[in-house]
Amino acid sequence: GAAKPVIVAIDGPSGTGKSSTSKAVAARLGLSYLDTGAQYRAITWWMVTNGIDIEDPTAIAAVAGKPEIVSGTDPEGPTITVDGTDVAGPIRTQEVTSQVSAVSAVPEVRARITELQRALATTAERGIVVEGRDIGTTVLPGADLKVFLTASPEARAARRSGELNGADVNATREALVKRDAADSSRKTSPLAKAADAVEVDTTELTLQQVIECVVTLVEEKRDAK
Ligand code: DC
Repeated sequence: GAAKPVIVAIDGPSGTGKSSTSKAVAARLGLSYLDTGAQYRAITWWMVTNGIDIEDPTAIAAVAGKPEIVSGTDPEGPTITVDGTDVAGPIRTQEVTSQVSAVSAVPEVRARITELQRALATTAERGIVVEGRDIGTTVLPGADLKVFLTASPEARAARRSGELNGADVNATREALVKRDAADSSRKTSPLAKAADAVEVDTTELTLQQVIECVVTLVEEKRDAK
């Protein structure tokens, strides 16, 4: 029946349309929405703002519990605050983007953020779409539906540079491939496709087609519950 909460995990590298897809699917189906990348960006922003040495995992681990990170999960207007400050803008700067892989590789940071994610997922009344890198494998291994989005590096760089108002595609591709490599090779819950995830290659699909595809997958799971 439609009344039971449905938990959806959407993972994949950047530039696959993960955020746009997850938000639209959640809005269409009346579910909550959580951007876990924004949480890792928020804790990174706090580390940078407080002068923590990003090269020093021990220093990062020591203060990982300090910032209070709160995510608003309405897909029509998701929010993120750190100690009460709205950081939606500052977490998208190049400075934060270039440091987030290092901060998110620290196990104490992941443990902290994972705890927040599980708390939000278990309290979402109608269910939630959670997007990230390790949601299906580590954070919510019991999710009702796991989707793994992929796309060619060229397609991903083209989309990302479009989002950045026409930033150089080659430079964007290099930065993106470098961040994916770091996110995929770290020891603690790297970017990975869960064995039971449905892989959707978005290279040749429009955003609207990807949204329709995922909505259909969620509806199938929800009706089967
Ligand atoms: O999705 P994004 O680009 O905003 O994510 C920012 C970074 O956060 C990404 O480089 C890796 C990290 N991340 C992670 O380690 N685990 C997640 N579940 C989500 C993001």
